[in-house]
Amino acid sequence: MQLFHTLGELRQFLNQHAAQRIALVPTMGNLHAGHCQLVTAAKRHAQLVVVSIFVNPLQFGAHEDFGSYPRTLSADCEQLAKVGADAVFAPSINEMYPDADAQGLHQTVTIQPPPLADILCGASRPGHFVGVCTVVAKLFHMVNPQVAVFGKKDYQQWMVIRQMVRQLHFAIEIIACETQREASGLAMSSRNGYLTEAQKTQAAQLYAQLGDIRLTLLTGARDYAALCRQAMTQLTQHGWQVDYIEIRHPADLRPSERNDKTWVVLAAAKLGHTRLIDNIEVALPFTQVE
Ligand code: PAF
Repeated sequence: MQLFHTLGELRQFLNQHAAQRIALVPTMGNLHAGHCQLVTAAKRHAQLVVVSIFVNPLQFGAHEDFGSYPRTLSADCEQLAKVGADAVFAPSINEMYPDADAQGLHQTVTIQPPPLADILCGASRPGHFVGVCTVVAKLFHMVNPQVAVFGKKDYQQWMVIRQMVRQLHFAIEIIACETQREASGLAMSSRNGYLTEAQKTQAAQLYAQLGDIRLTLLTGARDYAALCRQAMTQLTQHGWQVDYIEIRHPADLRPSERNDKTWVVLAAAKLGHTRLIDNIEVALPFTQVE
């Protein structure tokens, strides 16, 4: 496995493999089993797998954890070599944002994401999806893959990227992988590393609430607002600061309607200082979630 820090080096490598089908797995590093599963999926869809590791300043708000986000490049590379990635692209901020200086990124050319980016996480984290779309579009241009793989834990991100790809005519197939979970049900996330052991145990409550909503939907309940309110109350009583719990249509995140047969229940909540997100897809028997 080869590690590249500059676009020049990466392009030289990619030119040598021009005939191969390339998959890109974009990450911010601090990798866990969920990321490894993305690489494994990528290997099923391509001959050459490139993993990018870049903590993208443009997608963090002013008071978010950009500074403290764990940077663990050598441990990440060890894991990636084991799962069979072919190349790691870990650019500097200046490589990714050529006009950056000590005063800022000066990334005046950005991708305006679709309105879907203004709800849920986009409402709580203004500008987040501008940062995500801009860096993902840059990576798509840099790597020029035929396939790109994302995790469903970031469900809204997956939807936003799919729309960007369609509307900007990127000839890239977007593959989504199921969320990997701890035995407790907690969704694997780089941010779980911020949690104390006690908080890690408690964090399983988020997915447990989503699971309860799922069961209630399957038994026929359709008062979506009441279901979400109830889950929010439960979490709040256990010390969570809930940002949102919402029941939406899984194809485009529009609000669910009474006669729907498929749903995605999405949640974001803070445990202490750590913001966690999770979701669960629900389908009536014999109905396929898209
Ligand atoms: O999901 C992530 O880790 C990031 O948002 C991504 C897609 C790598 C863009 O920085």
